[in-house]
This record gives sequence, C-alpha cells and structure tokens, in this order.
Amino acid sequence: MQLPLSPFTTFKLLILLLTLQLQAFPILSISPCKTFCGNIPINYPFGLDDGCGAPQFRHMLNCSIDLFFQTPSGAYKVQSIDYDKNSMIIYDPSMSTCSILQPHHDFLMTDIQSAIIPPSQDTVFALLNCSIDSPVLNHYKYLCFNFSGHGCDQLYGSCNAFRIFHLQTNSSPPCCFTSYNTVKFISMNILDCTHYTTVFNTDKLQGVGPLDWVYGIKLRFSVPDTGCESCRKSGGTCGFDTETEGPICLCSSFVNSTRECAAGSIISKGQKSYPWTNYQLFLLLGAFLHIVARLL
Ligand SMILES: *[C@@H]1O[C@H](CO)[C@@H](O)[C@H](O)[C@H]1NC(C)=O
Ligand SMILES: *[C@@H]1O[C@H](CO)[C@@H](O)[C@H](O)[C@H]1NC(C)=O
Ligand SMILES: *[C@@H]1O[C@H](CO)[C@@H](O)[C@H](O)[C@H]1NC(C)=O
Ligand SMILES: *[C@@H]1O[C@H](CO)[C@@H](O)[C@H](O)[C@H]1NC(C)=O
Repeated sequence: MQLPLSPFTTFKLLILLLTLQLQAFPILSISPCKTFCGNIPINYPFGLDDGCGAPQFRHMLNCSIDLFFQTPSGAYKVQSIDYDKNSMIIYDPSMSTCSILQPHHDFLMTDIQSAIIPPSQDTVFALLNCSIDSPVLNHYKYLCFNFSGHGCDQLYGSCNAFRIFHLQTNSSPPCCFTSYNTVKFISMNILDCTHYTTVFNTDKLQGVGPLDWVYGIKLRFSVPDTGCESCRKSGGTCGFDTETEGPICLCSSFVNSTRECAAGSIISKGQKSYPWTNYQLFLLLGAFLHIVARLL
C-alpha cells in the first residue's frame, strides 16, 4: 500500500499537530471549574465540580437538567443568583401558591446552610389553614406579623387556590405570616397548619395584592473570606483540596498553588508537568520509526 503523503510530509504534519495541541491545551484548561449551568453563572463561593468554590458550599448545587439547590427536604430549582447582592432565588415546585394548592412538606436546611445561606429577612412564610390549637395562635402568637399592611384574609380572599379554606368553614381559618426562624425551629406538623406558601421581596409589596406577589424563597449567602480575590486577580479559580478542604487557587488542570497563580505558571510549569507530553512524544517516536522502517 502506498502512503498518500510522503513520509517527510507526514512527519511534519505530526510535528505541527503536536505543537498545536501543546499550545491549545493550557488555554483550554485555565478554568477547571464549570462556570455556567444553563444560563446561570456559577462563581465563587459556589461550585459544581467537587473542589471548586468554597468548601462550606460543597454539594449544595447540582446541575442536572437545571440548576438545583439541594437541602435535606429536597432539590429546589434555582431561578437566579445575584452575586452583587449575595442572593439566590429558589423555587419549590411542590409548594402552594396563589394559583395552586399542594399539600405542605417541611422546608429543611442543614445547620451549615442555615448559617451561611439562610432565607432573607424579606422572605415571608405564610402558614395557612392552621388549627385553632396551633402554637402560633397561642403561646407563639408573637411570631406572626402583618407585612406591608397585608393580613391573611387577603390570601383567602384573592387567591383561587386558597378560597377553598374559606368555603369549607364559611369563615377564615387562622393563618400566620412568619419568618424562616419559626419553621426552622418548629416543624410543620407541630405548627398544625395544613399548607404554606412563601413570598419574597416583601418590603416592596405595600398595596400589591397576593395575585402579584412573587412566590419562592430568597436566600442570602455570605462569602467566606479565604483570599479568593488575589487568586482571581492572578487568573486562577478559587477552589479547595477535596481531602483537607484547605483553600487552593486552581490555576489550570495541572498546576495548583495555595494562594495565587504565579505569573507565567500556566504556560511554563504547565508544559513541564504536562502528562500528555510523554505520551505524545512516544506516539511521535512510534510514527517516526514506522516511517523510517518503510523507507528502509
Ligand atoms: C440533583 O438534582 C436532582 C433534582 O431533580 C435530584 O433528583 C438529584 O438527586 C440530585 N443529584 C445529586 C447528586 O444531588
Ligand atoms: C384545613 O384544615 C382542616 C383541619 O384543621 C382540615 O380538615 C381541612 O381538610 C383543611 N383544608 C384543606 C383544603 O386541606
Ligand atoms: C393584621 O391585620 C389584620 C387585618 O388585616 C388585623 O385584624 C390584625 O389585628 C393585624 N395584626 C397585627 C399584629 O397588626
Ligand atoms: C489541584 O487541585 C484539584 C482540586 O483539589 C485536584 O483535583 C487536582 O488533582 C490538583 N492538581 C494537582 C496537579 O495537584
């Protein structure tokens, strides 16, 4: 069989390919962490790949079909993340809203989540159809409040989903607007309310009816100060050692430094420890020997 190209041309092509790959590889691998899930940017302190972001936020996000925030009570769809205001909007698809009635289930977070990414002050939990024995109507009455001048009657009156409570008894069953801390410390069963909904941006809802409220939960996260800024400025991505959880500046897939990426390290150190180099040299040598053997 005749080679379509002369052995020398083939050899030159191989060299060219190798050179191209050596140049392209470090550039492609500068960010070893996924930076988007769909159209939602994933930045510090969050991470999708293990070892990316801050260790405190490890295993919280999951990018399956969409971006999900994982808590002990379920996976909540992330609608947006605002890195300037340090807030994240999540939505529980099995929660009741003004237009749909669904059985309640608890909203649970881990202790770490409650500490570093709790629901914001302007997220209100509305406990609906409470029994008259509910603690929030008795001993813990003080946990309920009116927000922006709204009372629960408005929810029963304006929302198709909640009108049934009113119809059932021909009166308004008790309800309670409260904060996350109430549901954090008292489970829904003990609260003795059959349904709940959550509304955020409540400080902007003065005079706005329940049909126009925004249902969902706004979480406010705190960003751990681990010197990430200097890492980012040096062109790295903040991450952590998956065993010790100590902070690492990820400079590329094959160079880590503890604080920041040294200037030029991406190229120079990268090629030195480039794991493919030996393999490709081996291939190249094989091809070369093959060609030489054919020539002889
Ligand atoms: C990712 O989120 C989906 C939500 O649909 C959930 O079913 C799945 O178990 C989650 N995976 C992990 C590893 O948390
Ligand atoms: C409202 O609560 C009562 C018990 O307090 C319950 O019997 C009733 O079924 C609830 N209404 C709805 C629509 O779930
Ligand atoms: C909340 O508003 C309702 C009327 O909408 C009123 O009856 C109730 O007293 C108010 N509660 C508080 C604590 O202000
Ligand atoms: C760099 O750190 C990441 C995350 O801990 C790790 O997966 C990777 O193996 C490290 N690379 C090197 C060359 O140490």
